[in-house]
Amino acid sequence: MSQKPPADRDELAISHARPYTAPGVRVFYDRGRCLHFAECVRGLPQVFDVQKRPWIQPKNASAEQVAEVVRRCPSGALHYRLEEGPREEPEQPTRVEFVANGPINLRGDLSIDVPGGRMREVRASLCRCGRTENEPFCDKACTSTGWSSEPPTATTVLDERNE
Ligand code: SF4
Ligand code: FES
Repeated sequence: MSQKPPADRDELAISHARPYTAPGVRVFYDRGRCLHFAECVRGLPQVFDVQKRPWIQPKNASAEQVAEVVRRCPSGALHYRLEEGPREEPEQPTRVEFVANGPINLRGDLSIDVPGGRMREVRASLCRCGRTENEPFCDKACTSTGWSSEPPTATTVLDERNE
């Protein structure tokens, strides 16, 4: 008998994330998926400040401002829920961006197979080097191991053979 695929899970994207609450908004941060693109820190430094504890203080801006900056996070490490307001709408059509020597960034109505089931997502950075320890997401192993997305040139190959 064939097994039924798991139902898409709306809450899976925030199930491992830490919540930061302020009147009107709750921000969720999944440290394992943060790739330090710094969109949050640039966008609202009074809310996202790595020098402060906690480093996310959503009370320092309006709920709408916080939500707008969270939507800029390419990796999906950040999410929000508004007390009164809609969920984040997926971008349409889906956008795919190949980061040089790094992950594939996706924005859209995503359904991603993860160890806990099938995750509904709107933003994600997926590993394409095969070295991540947080599959299917990029965990910056590409950078720390010096992986290159460029195929080696003929000269590089010859140089390696001569070593
Ligand atoms: S924008 Fe997202 S990926 Fe970038 S530093 Fe902030 S939380 Fe991390
Ligand atoms: S692409 Fe970043 S860990 Fe694989």
